[in-house]
Amino acid sequence: MAKPQTVYFCQNCGNQSSKWLGKCPACGEWNTYQEEVISKSSDRKGGYQRPERSSRPVLIQDISLEKENRIDTRSAEFNRVLGGGLVAGSIVLIGGEPGIGKSTLLLQVALNMEGHRILYVTGEESRQQIKMRADRLGLNNPDCYILNETFSGEIFRHIDEVKPELIVIDSIQTLHTDTLESSAGSISQIRETAGELQRFAKSTLIPVVLIGHITKEGSLAGPKVLEHMVDTVLQFEGDRHYGFRILRSVKNRFGSTSELGIYEMQSGGLREVSNPSEILLSQRDEEVSGVAIAATIEGQRPMLVETQALVSPAAYGTPQRSSTGFDLRRMNMLLAVLEKRSGVRISAKDVFLNIAGGLRVDDPAIDLAVVASVLSSAEDAAIGNNVCFAAEVGLSGEIRAVSRIESRILEAEKLGFEKIFISGFNRKGIDLKSKKIEVIPVGKVRDLMNLLF
Ligand code: TYD
Ligand code: MG
Repeated sequence: MAKPQTVYFCQNCGNQSSKWLGKCPACGEWNTYQEEVISKSSDRKGGYQRPERSSRPVLIQDISLEKENRIDTRSAEFNRVLGGGLVAGSIVLIGGEPGIGKSTLLLQVALNMEGHRILYVTGEESRQQIKMRADRLGLNNPDCYILNETFSGEIFRHIDEVKPELIVIDSIQTLHTDTLESSAGSISQIRETAGELQRFAKSTLIPVVLIGHITKEGSLAGPKVLEHMVDTVLQFEGDRHYGFRILRSVKNRFGSTSELGIYEMQSGGLREVSNPSEILLSQRDEEVSGVAIAATIEGQRPMLVETQALVSPAAYGTPQRSSTGFDLRRMNMLLAVLEKRSGVRISAKDVFLNIAGGLRVDDPAIDLAVVASVLSSAEDAAIGNNVCFAAEVGLSGEIRAVSRIESRILEAEKLGFEKIFISGFNRKGIDLKSKKIEVIPVGKVRDLMNLLF
């Protein structure tokens, strides 16, 4: 008998090596190499074999552009993130931490698509567990099949029988194929089973949604290779202790990656949040120091978020800096700008920053609100709760213009704000007369102090 062939895979990026390595030359991570048996068994009974088809080259001008065939998932947020529905034959990967609500989201989508035949394959939960969850969601799609199976050959056999219009795999890490000997969840198994599903989706035009777990570091477990194989990568994220969840598009071959969907986890499942600013506005009462509202744009939607800062004398020698929902390095940069350009003494103070609602915000327009909340806490003076901010802060303390300022101002006005601080560079082109809200241009961080307090 031939010696089983083994290969070492980086569990972080999927890089392959014939010997063990301490540091991955591809992604630079340490101690990520693991040995996997990859010898293929001689009789390939499992897996998916593409039907024999002859491919031929076609001249580019002869290719007709028909509108891609999209399936409406009956969920406005999910459709939006996908760029207008599921594309036939596409393969979508949804990543997220355990317990964030991936299974709930897809079961909800499956049960909502009444009239479509759906196969929900689960390797993680029993049929009873799924049924219990479906009852909790209060939804019922008579054409939704649940399959408890992890072996890919069996799954393809059932697909042939059921003939579904959409397949959900929960999760890709539980699948295995008998063409490989390594265990389920290993890099080679993930790559092989995902490859089978991808060939299946492309040749039958049935869309497949894969659920994937995320490692502690926040990247998709098992690997970057998976991200290259699929058409769309969605990330489901949020703080587990809060109800709000964001579905972000990280990669999309059929749409923009700037779209996102917002949900709230409730006892009866995930509720779609169509007006994101409600996350913030329900919780405002008295005026306290250290709070500032930012008019941000997430995806294509304007959204007002609350930033909270606490500046206090350092209890230990080295001041602590901590931030939730905002990049810590960016916060340190803003603090340095504040110290150097406006003379506020914060280098010996602890600074804590928090974005309310457990959301992570990428929009640079939140900078000015972060600076204002830190100033407000350092001075212990409240900023009125009818004030909001939208501008980026540069290294020399200049207040920089941000994109789509009109929609930010409109959203702030709609929500009853009376003042909005923006960059002086953003002012031209805005029709100020037609607005009830007072638009205040700021040039430098230093000026903000005088304008606020
Ligand atoms: P789940 O979909 O199992 O997460 P994942 O598949 O990403 O691991 O969701 C688990 C959490 O969602 C669990 O902590 C309970 C919560 N939940 C609700 O709050 N309401 C509900 O209606 C459901 C079905 C789940
Ligand atoms: Mg799950």
